[in-house]
Amino acid sequence: MASTVFSPFTLRGMTIKNRIVMSPMLMYRGQDDGMINDFIYAHYAARALGGAGMIGTEVIAIEPRGRISANDLGLWNDAQAEALKRLTGFVHSCDTRIFAQLAHAGRKSHITETAIAPSAIAYDNTLGTPRAATAEDIASIIANYRSAACRAVEAGFDAVELHAANGYLLHEFLAPVSNTRDDAYGGSLENRMRLPLEVVEAVRSVIPEDMPLFYRIVASDFGTNGVTPEEALTLAAELKARGVDLIDVQTGNILPGYEGPVYPGYQTPYATRIKAATGLPMGATGSIASIDLAEFILSSGQADLVMMGRALLRDPFWPIRAAREAGIDVEVPIPTYARATGPFERGF
Ligand SMILES: Cc1cc2nc3c(=O)[nH]c(=O)nc-3n(C[C@H](O)[C@H](O)[C@H](O)COP(=O)(O)O)c2cc1C
Repeated sequence: MASTVFSPFTLRGMTIKNRIVMSPMLMYRGQDDGMINDFIYAHYAARALGGAGMIGTEVIAIEPRGRISANDLGLWNDAQAEALKRLTGFVHSCDTRIFAQLAHAGRKSHITETAIAPSAIAYDNTLGTPRAATAEDIASIIANYRSAACRAVEAGFDAVELHAANGYLLHEFLAPVSNTRDDAYGGSLENRMRLPLEVVEAVRSVIPEDMPLFYRIVASDFGTNGVTPEEALTLAAELKARGVDLIDVQTGNILPGYEGPVYPGYQTPYATRIKAATGLPMGATGSIASIDLAEFILSSGQADLVMMGRALLRDPFWPIRAAREAGIDVEVPIPTYARATGPFERGF
């Protein structure tokens, strides 16, 4: 039987050589101007050499006040986009695809002086109380998502992902615990979904027709007055109607701590539920670190891509190694790597 993990996958005009995607992971190793540096370049280049089908960047801030830390990448100016071309070009030379994860930290920004959120409610007692966004702030956030998406296209990314989970701004708007607004952006589910959906519409309208749009959703906040599983299903249907191509599923983190169970593949059941309800392709994330589990998730149709975080932090070459161990023949990004034979063959 052929491996599903190592089979290609197509969305709109983009084909990924295998189903292994590096899940976005912030490294806190950038710099105050939001520009890519040597560390970040080498970090992602290593995962492309290691055989991942696609790389998700860490959060890329759409505006300076949307950064989690002063070391985040940014796409709020053209110089940042220009500098990222070196990375996208190298990743493509390894036959790997790369998406830009566009993000706004909202009340979880550690740059507390400028933090804005749906309501003036602090995340915890270490981060300050954010300022409640005005109507003008909301309009500028949407405009900045749109400009950042244009720059992601310009920089050579193959897809864009909107980060709307893990307690950051778009998640905060959706969750009643962090959104107590009484205007058109708070209250009913329709109002709480308004900003995420307006951002989706703005981004979809400026990226090319053949470029996929991913959305990192929160499927449940486990009864903390956050997002319910039913609300996530309603949102997912609205995302599909607006041209989102793949949903990447997270849970929890609207409040400090994590309420849900954690085990290998722990968020996959949520992905499967949204897939069944919407028919959309899904990314499964969460403690997926073995080829057997990845193969089971994909071959049984629970999800379409495995988004692997820490396994690819531990070992950039995880995809090539997993293929070798499973006896699956894959093309390696650098042909000379194929000469890395075993001790009973002569190396030359
Ligand atoms: C060091 C680290 C940084 C992370 N940064 C981000 C991020 O920038 N954006 C995001 O959406 N998720 C982030 N995550 C969550 C991961 O993308 C992933 O969903 C999570 O680690 C679960 O997958 P895993 O069990 O395979 O690591 C981060 C996780 C880790 C461990």
